Amino acid sequence: MSPTNKRIYLSPPHMSGHEMKYIKEAFDTNWVAPLGPNVDAFEKSLAEYCSVKHAVALSSGTAAIHLALIILGVNAGDEVIVPTFTFSATVNPIVYQGATPVFIDSEPETWNMDPELLEKSIKERLTHKTHNSQLTTNNLPKAIIVVHLYGMPAKMDEIIAIADKYGIPVIEDAAEALGSKYKGKPLGSIGKVGVLSFNGNKIITTSGGGALISDDRELIEKARFLATQARDKAPHYQHSQIGFNYRMSNVLAGIGRGQMEVINERVLERRNNFLFYKQKLDNFEGIKFLEEPGEEYFSNRWLITILLKIRERGKTRESLRRQFEMENIESRPLWKPMHLQPVFSSYPAYLNGLSQDLFKIGLCLPSGSDMSDKERRRILKIVKEFIT
Ligand SMILES: Cc1ncc(COP(=O)(O)O)c(C=O)c1O
Repeated sequence: MSPTNKRIYLSPPHMSGHEMKYIKEAFDTNWVAPLGPNVDAFEKSLAEYCSVKHAVALSSGTAAIHLALIILGVNAGDEVIVPTFTFSATVNPIVYQGATPVFIDSEPETWNMDPELLEKSIKERLTHKTHNSQLTTNNLPKAIIVVHLYGMPAKMDEIIAIADKYGIPVIEDAAEALGSKYKGKPLGSIGKVGVLSFNGNKIITTSGGGALISDDRELIEKARFLATQARDKAPHYQHSQIGFNYRMSNVLAGIGRGQMEVINERVLERRNNFLFYKQKLDNFEGIKFLEEPGEEYFSNRWLITILLKIRERGKTRESLRRQFEMENIESRPLWKPMHLQPVFSSYPAYLNGLSQDLFKIGLCLPSGSDMSDKERRRILKIVKEFIT
């Protein structure tokens, strides 16, 4: 490793400089609590930006998925359809609920949930044998979680049409896709509820945090109630339901407010990273990029992904990753599909082999919005040396 080379991270936090003003306000007014003016203002700006009527800021995207499942009535024994090509946080809350994930493979144009496999799975689940017993049930899956991976919109028209046909609500996991759009609509605003994440590596961050968004006031109010320990309306502490401590702190929401002031710039900066890599590497046969399949698709390019299609022995995505590491540059294999994870391998899966192939040959390149041109050229040099 060359010690003179400062480490380049995959997707580091990128502060706007406006955050401290709101954090200071929280301290000056002693609103150092899991509620307060920063939370209210952050929720308002999220709802406006995502073109939805309501938003509730939460402690993480994972908490948002958990609450989404609860408010849509997912209980023990239910099935929830989910892509296999995602991060484990999409799936874990299904298991928290005692429900069963049913995995769906990807389609090649966006790498997200394949609508054909989705419909096939629904038809089959109507007469399936349950995961834990041999009893035949007639139950429809209780929810569909769609993920917009790496910021690329899923095929929402097809997916929503199938979901509507069977009357199954859609949760949009837009944790990686704030700022992306499908047919001009912000991701997260198309399904029944949408999930956002502000983890440290996301396009904007609150260090850790998430949100649930929707046009449905009742659903968001239910989520807010559950996230605040499900406290009934009474002067004393009374509870008739199990609650959670999932609200976002007013200090962290201050970071979020400062970040929301530059969200459009962040999207542009990430999209410019993509253009840079693509322009410089497009002529090389061994590298393929994921394109937006048409005008309807607008990706925030949260992480830039490449597929390595090199026949030469030993030139694998893992050897390129190690090469980057030797140069003090962080890169990351594409998500390992959930049906291949030891913890999820026994759950039903509808597969076509695509996610497994993507995992084998795909790598995420550093994609931070504050990457300098010099840093991008350092990355480019390594890729070029590797493929030529
Ligand atoms: C696709 C996806 N879903 C859910 C999450 C969970 O978000 P959080 O880390 O805020 O819990 C993440 C990111 O971490 C993610 O990438």
